[in-house]
Amino acid sequence: MEENRSIGGLECSWRKPDGRKAAEEAAEETAAAQAGQKEKTKAVAGQLRQEAEIVEENKRKEDSDTIEHQVDKLLLQIVKKITKEGERESRKMGQLLEFLEILILSGILLSMVQGDVHHYEFVLKETNFTRLCTTRSLLVVNGSLPGPEIRVHKGDTVHVNVYNQGNYSVTLHWHGVKQPRNPWSDGPEYITQCPIQPGKNFTYEVIFSTEEGTLWWHAHSDWTRNSVHGAIVVLPAPGTTFPFPEPDGDEVIVFGSWYDYDINKVVADDLKTGADTPTSDSYLINGQPGDLCNCSKGSARRMLVDHGKTYLLRIVNAVMNVDLFFAVAEHNVTVVGMDGNYLKPFTTPYITISPGQSMDVLLVANQSLGRYYMATRQYDSVRPDVLIYDKTNATAILEYRGNYTSQADPIFPSSLPTYLDFVSADNFIHGLRSLASPEHPVNVPLNISTSMFIVVSMNQIICPNQTCAGINGNKLASSLNNISLVNPPIDVLLAYYRNMSGFYTKDFPDYPSSYYNYTADEFPFNVTVPLQGTKVKMLNYNETVEITFQGTNVLRTSESHPMHLHGYSFYVVGTGYGDFDPENDPKGYNFIDPPELNTVSVPKNGWATIRFVASNPGVWYWHCHFDRHLSWGMSTIFIVKNGGSPETSVREPPANMPHCEVSFTNRIQEFKDSSGEENKLKTFD
Ligand code: C2O
Ligand code: CU
Repeated sequence: MEENRSIGGLECSWRKPDGRKAAEEAAEETAAAQAGQKEKTKAVAGQLRQEAEIVEENKRKEDSDTIEHQVDKLLLQIVKKITKEGERESRKMGQLLEFLEILILSGILLSMVQGDVHHYEFVLKETNFTRLCTTRSLLVVNGSLPGPEIRVHKGDTVHVNVYNQGNYSVTLHWHGVKQPRNPWSDGPEYITQCPIQPGKNFTYEVIFSTEEGTLWWHAHSDWTRNSVHGAIVVLPAPGTTFPFPEPDGDEVIVFGSWYDYDINKVVADDLKTGADTPTSDSYLINGQPGDLCNCSKGSARRMLVDHGKTYLLRIVNAVMNVDLFFAVAEHNVTVVGMDGNYLKPFTTPYITISPGQSMDVLLVANQSLGRYYMATRQYDSVRPDVLIYDKTNATAILEYRGNYTSQADPIFPSSLPTYLDFVSADNFIHGLRSLASPEHPVNVPLNISTSMFIVVSMNQIICPNQTCAGINGNKLASSLNNISLVNPPIDVLLAYYRNMSGFYTKDFPDYPSSYYNYTADEFPFNVTVPLQGTKVKMLNYNETVEITFQGTNVLRTSESHPMHLHGYSFYVVGTGYGDFDPENDPKGYNFIDPPELNTVSVPKNGWATIRFVASNPGVWYWHCHFDRHLSWGMSTIFIVKNGGSPETSVREPPANMPHCEVSFTNRIQEFKDSSGEENKLKTFD
């Protein structure tokens, strides 16, 4: 046992980016001094406004409660009446059938109002945090990092009133929540809404349907999600249970990234110069790097457990740019769910988790009383010669309750794989299988109506005289099928819903424009330079879709990519290494128990195939969940058309959507789609 306690060589080590911090701090101090007086006034005004709004909100709550109450009462009366009638007439067969029919109908009505409605107040504000010997102001929700947890039952609806009291325009996204027919509250900026400006507020209506397990929410504007995120816990619907014995308790574990400087500013600069974005200074578990890091002794979060009990760990990877390993010293965990869907339980000494993914794992507290580190560190898939990465081992402590003399240091997990351990990462990912039980069936579409092959690639935008700061003096970029997405000045959803032309084109290609050896070390020059535009893929309602994502080694930058789709979950029917083989690879597809996810890790120099039914009308973003790739354009948009009835169509927009503050007259530009059809941006005055 003694050797496991050695944590030599595993200290938290981190590096500061050159000179950036000092310069930035000086600039910030000056700005802060100037802003001081204005801030005070703003704060008072903000407080008053908030108080007024809370009073109003309470009133609204009362109103909606009474409405719900009345609906319940009405339904009860209907059921009673039907029951009475039924009793009287039940001898006559025909009427009995009719009675059953009405009962079923009223059952449907009941289920429509069955879910509870919850209200949350989210106040976005700059707040000071000290980590790794550095104090920084971060934009967070309700003063906490990570932000508040949302806890619901399956099928509930949540109203989140967001007050932006920060100085950055943001939106919020409910990652993994399908939001049937309700893209208006999905959140990605310039895709489904314009950002909530400082001083403004917006109420999201988050509609839960089939999700059950752990999901999360985060900001969806630039890199603000780094500090603006939190967990969503979806419990089984009342009257139903977990597909495993009820755990004795649960614990949310959110992985985050810490930067010693204002990451949004630095990234904005890097996007201008074309340079690579910086790596984080440390990883965090529930907002803390843990005991191993400088100035952090004693900061590690503690999870108290009773011997013999079983706990459900609800794990979210909210870091910005990397996959992670996670393990608990001396304890195996049993993975039972992922991305809000159940999995066949499988027991493992560690997990691998990509940004965007969430996992439900059971931990049995069955070891000797003591303190054990829970630790996470980077699993990276870039070239082994890339030496600049965040090397921290972020830790939290699993601590048994009871009387015992504890060791000086908790035990560090010897089972935690290291940086380049591809084999461990692969073994874990291949263990993921859907539960595929009668209560949680698998419904993979077998007849495919739309099939796409999408090349996921790094790129460069050529700079005159190679004066930019990326590879070869050009700007770093990235793409899907060689299209690098450009945000339009108003959101695509509004443009689509209002039939406004000129903001996007409908020609996102189903296939790449050229075929080459994607994963080789050599590549044609033309595939390194992407087209830039707002190209969307149109889908008919209920289309059955298959997509194969193919990673590339263009610019020798092959890496894994966690591809995330909004508004849906999908089945991952196959993954593999090298160039996809359309003849043989499909033979190995799993249609029996493929995992159902919202974020799939396309392996480095490999491919992944997903399937889903396009049954949720709306405008849905999808993108790589590494924010650096997302910022460089590795994203596109699905528009799923209405199905022809009110129940299969996008809902009416809420009245208070945030305004798009753009000067349209400055934004006139020409769009051409592949048919040669030309659209001019309209001017609005
Ligand atoms: Cu986690 Cu576009 O989302
Ligand atoms: Cu990526």
